[in-house]
Amino acid sequence: MFTTIAALLPLACLAIAAPAGTGCTPTKEAKVARFDDLPYTEGSMNQIPPHYYGLSYFTFQVDQYDHWIPPTSGNQWAMAFGGSGNISIPDSPPKSTFELDSFSYACVSGVPQPECAISVWGWKANGKVIKRKIKFPKLDPAPVEAYVMNKTKFSHEWRDLKSLGFSIARADNGGDMYGGLALDDIAYTITFGCPDS
Ligand SMILES: *[C@@H]1O[C@H](CO)[C@@H](O)[C@H](O)[C@H]1NC(C)=O
Ligand SMILES: *[C@@H]1O[C@H](CO)[C@@H](O)[C@H](O)[C@H]1NC(C)=O
Repeated sequence: MFTTIAALLPLACLAIAAPAGTGCTPTKEAKVARFDDLPYTEGSMNQIPPHYYGLSYFTFQVDQYDHWIPPTSGNQWAMAFGGSGNISIPDSPPKSTFELDSFSYACVSGVPQPECAISVWGWKANGKVIKRKIKFPKLDPAPVEAYVMNKTKFSHEWRDLKSLGFSIARADNGGDMYGGLALDDIAYTITFGCPDS
């Protein structure tokens, strides 16, 4: 028994190192998107460039601190002004996926604003869709220092992702928040795929 397992182990390691003999090994890279290194022009569309730290953003733009809720890092965050948007891994290199680790978030509708429910969908490479709802608290008038982003971590279930989708609604009645969704310090790990693995 012992000798059989010992004999198989080196083969198993080889198979992982060079799948299907392509010479390509899937690699993993941990990233944090902080949005502070992107250009911002007041009053224009400040699109997040494709492949920003390996991901592409739809609807989200770069937005700057306006002396209300401060971004977690620096003075910029990613903002979906209508409250919904997507973050996806590009098709090239093929078969790449990502695992979501954590992010900071805020619903931004002004004060007062009702409690906000943020729906987060994850589309996996195998077609499975997972979903989580997170809340951002109701905001009443308060000294400006009281307003901070909230942060959440994601479980290991949030891996093998192709895309993330977001939308916001009032937590109490599902109505419109009439506001945006801000994200900052999005931490994730990309697995760069191999063409024939
Ligand atoms: C987000 O991605 C999903 C799935 O690919 C798509 O159905 C939806 O239209 C996208 N929404 C936006 C705002 O890009
Ligand atoms: C979440 O955000 C609210 C409003 O900015 C703040 O009062 C609260 O302390 C935050 N909670 C955490 C755990 O960050």
